[in-house]
Amino acid sequence: MVWTSRPVRRLAGSIRAPGDKSCSHRALIFGGLASGVSRFTGLLEGDDVIRTGLAMAAMGAEVACTGPGAWEVRGVGTKGLASPKDGLDFGNSGTGSRLMMGVMAGFDLTAELSGDASLSSRPMNRVLNPLREMGMKDTAGPDGRLPFSLTGSSALKGIRYAPPQASAQVKSAVLLAGLNAVGTTTVVEAKATRDHTERMLKGFGAKLGFKVAPGGAAEISIEGKQPLFAVDAAIPGDPSSAAFLIAAGILSAQGDVMVEGVMSNPTRSGFYDAANLMGAHLGAEERGEAAGERLIDLHAGYAGLKGIAVPERLVASMIDEFPILAVLAAFATGETRVTGADELRVKESDRIKAIVAMLRVNGVDVEETVDGFTVQGCGGPVPGGGLVETRHDHRIAMSALVMGTAAKKPVSVDDVSMIDTSYPDFLGHMAMLGAEIGQG
Ligand code: S3P
Repeated sequence: MVWTSRPVRRLAGSIRAPGDKSCSHRALIFGGLASGVSRFTGLLEGDDVIRTGLAMAAMGAEVACTGPGAWEVRGVGTKGLASPKDGLDFGNSGTGSRLMMGVMAGFDLTAELSGDASLSSRPMNRVLNPLREMGMKDTAGPDGRLPFSLTGSSALKGIRYAPPQASAQVKSAVLLAGLNAVGTTTVVEAKATRDHTERMLKGFGAKLGFKVAPGGAAEISIEGKQPLFAVDAAIPGDPSSAAFLIAAGILSAQGDVMVEGVMSNPTRSGFYDAANLMGAHLGAEERGEAAGERLIDLHAGYAGLKGIAVPERLVASMIDEFPILAVLAAFATGETRVTGADELRVKESDRIKAIVAMLRVNGVDVEETVDGFTVQGCGGPVPGGGLVETRHDHRIAMSALVMGTAAKKPVSVDDVSMIDTSYPDFLGHMAMLGAEIGQG
């Protein structure tokens, strides 16, 4: 069903950032593996995260919602995970499915895994290859796409693995398999990716080793057969979801938007660095800590932006933020160039194609390149008036709706239902800021 975002002069207000998606998946997974009862507050109740909880419950953890955002997880502890009776459907979630493959690899169980059309088109060999090397078996064909079944083993053996792509999901899957393997597992990471698995595993009592190899790559090691212990934790706010509200504040002629409690972690902050390079002047105030992460309140007001060449060193730390960065680029003066971002081709959609189509249908001059895109900014409000094809991709839908708030003509999207995968309160939060987004 088509939804439309109409231009408004002013977006203003203060919103509490929704719980971080990456940390919420990991909270349910690690809580489900630990001994004892973990209690979480501020957990993201998006469809992706709920499916991870259901998968853990299907294999023996007790997962219960005790209030809004409040969840209790009784982990399986030394008993370990068992084969689920039914298949596990991971919906749209790359993170849930890939992390869970790593987890399941280390237990004596068999499970059928599936996902929606988008997830079934995404590459899984990046995770299956190292897990096979460790001893996991699976029925995936050579192209490594869901659905398939996998059989784990408590005799999995530790490996040393250097993922060919910068991917926190691959790193995490291998480390999580290593947690229950025999011997040591080491992941060699040439470019830093989000480090929530490492930080949170330590919070649950696991010991990890960190080294910098000659040449600068990070080596992260985990000893196998380590127990995890339950924790009580507040989930930090999601910088990737906050980016939509902050972008809306920057683009609004009388913008005055505050997002409270956003996780400030250098492996996630690339969008904010890029926005500042474009001239956004974001304000940040310390807001304490949650689950070992620094929190900040972020403030954005209107800023006239200029195009930039996005430094490649920022790519991994803003990998989910390119759709909304592209919207900022469309309003900026001059050219914005994104390179070194070929991982965008295998997200919830081929995001390079989806971004280019989103901007073009709204009158913006944009070119696709092999590993990114180049936007010729409009130097002010974009023409708008287009219907954006969202391609099952929540971040394309949210980006297009933010674009509509400041375009010359309304911007429509063909679907909003998949926004629930990562940010179920998005439409409500945008309405609180004064956006006019509705059906039709
Ligand atoms: C995530 C890692 C990233 C990111 C995804 C969440 C995670 O994927 O795009 O939204 O929680 O580990 P890749 O590791 O495939 O880049």
